[in-house]
Amino acid sequence: MSHAKSRRHFLKLSAAAAATGMACRRLGAQSANGKLRTAHIGVGGMGGADLSSISSHPSVEVAALCDIDTRNLERAHSAHSGAKTFRDFREMLDQMDDSIDAVIVSTPDHTHAPAAMSALNRGKAVYCQKPLTHEVFEARQLRQVAEAKGLVTQMGIQVHGSYEYRLATALVQSGILGRVSHVYAWSNKNWGYDGGAFSGGVAPPPEVDWNLWIGTAKMRDYQPGVYHPGNWRKIVDFGTGTLGDMGVHIFDTPYRALKLTAPKWAKTTCRPPTGVGHPEKNVVTYEFPGTEHTTDSLIWTWYDGAFAPPTIPNVQLPNGVDMPGQGALFVGERGNMLLPHVAAPLLFPLGEVGHAKLPAVESVNHYHQFVDACLGKTKTDAHFGYAGPLTEALLLGVVANRFPDTQLDWDAAAMRVTNVEDANKLIRRTYREGFEVENLS
Ligand SMILES: NC(=O)c1ccc[n+]([C@@H]2O[C@H](COP(=O)([O-])OP(=O)(O)OC[C@H]3O[C@@H](n4cnc5c(N)ncnc54)[C@H](O)[C@@H]3O)[C@@H](O)[C@H]2O)c1
Repeated sequence: MSHAKSRRHFLKLSAAAAATGMACRRLGAQSANGKLRTAHIGVGGMGGADLSSISSHPSVEVAALCDIDTRNLERAHSAHSGAKTFRDFREMLDQMDDSIDAVIVSTPDHTHAPAAMSALNRGKAVYCQKPLTHEVFEARQLRQVAEAKGLVTQMGIQVHGSYEYRLATALVQSGILGRVSHVYAWSNKNWGYDGGAFSGGVAPPPEVDWNLWIGTAKMRDYQPGVYHPGNWRKIVDFGTGTLGDMGVHIFDTPYRALKLTAPKWAKTTCRPPTGVGHPEKNVVTYEFPGTEHTTDSLIWTWYDGAFAPPTIPNVQLPNGVDMPGQGALFVGERGNMLLPHVAAPLLFPLGEVGHAKLPAVESVNHYHQFVDACLGKTKTDAHFGYAGPLTEALLLGVVANRFPDTQLDWDAAAMRVTNVEDANKLIRRTYREGFEVENLS
């Protein structure tokens, strides 16, 4: 059997194994030296950190690097000179198909799903930055395709493996707070833009391939400092605002600890939509169905920008404790837990829950966990089966930001807002001609 044929055979076996409930097969087994061969899409910004963290695993061989900005590509290549370089991830996947096992996606949000799905379609393991996708439909599809093919996946929420967040999860699940009725969560970051439409535009720098940066979205002129790098977060067609950016990290622990599923509804207080940027400050409220760790239902309220940190009604923090700029507060029947973003949880009031015996937990290296899972040695914690529904819940709040003061009732099974028809236009978008992707377009 040729190498290509034996690889296709192996992938079919993996899919068959997954379908019959067997553990996923060892992906790196195909490489001559037994290493996991990785391809990285987006290697500037967080992509640079992802590249260092994943390649710090001794069983990783960085095989390919891709970036639409040659400055970032060259910087990454200087540290991994054996890797082949590309500007278009579609060309990279075509040319490297038989020479890579796993794909790491660290691009702006609107390109997560197209890049990740293109890799899943070829049977590759995928590590994809948070939030998993820009739209709900994309998150649903990524999860379903990854699960149907039995592929190893991980969403980039490295703090999921932190000691503090694992401890907070164990504490909540120990029942020490009693059933939890409300989670407040907040970030004082501002990834919004309240200004008007941009006019004019200039030629992009020669290092940037603007057509590829826009990718599946609607074409527009390049504007320095507005989109690339980083500030795309504020713009509705590319980013997901502060909720999508920080909410994924901060809501991850409540979502995991309380075993939440799909919300029943979401409602936002913010300025009227402009069609350009996400609102600079938002209060988003959700109701989730009850679970074994919550009261009959769970209310989650998010505050961002200048609305954060909030004053929590009927909750008195212990003397000398200030509200952190980012964090979450769990309100339970027996007590409360303040969880500053990636810092030690504080149980209060003292005397009731404050002297809890700490459960024994350890931190997990989330990046190496992905590599080890690809090599068949463990499983990932933030796989798309977990990250998909978490992202869908957050994205419903991002959609609600476009319909201020309106409760959006959500039918998760049908993937539809049942009472505001226009909101369904934001659940799934049409990809630009020439950038369609199987299973998404
Ligand atoms: N997990 C975390 O703590 C964390 C922290 C920061 C950012 N992030 C996430 O990482 C992602 C990137 O954020 P950032 O701040 O690094 O953004 P950025 O704009 O600074 O960097 C994005 C990189 O991707 C490249 N890129 C853009 N489009 C591309 C394409 N089509 N193909 C290949 N490369 C492309 C850019 O040139 C750049 O190198 C986002 O999803 C963000 O939410 C996660």
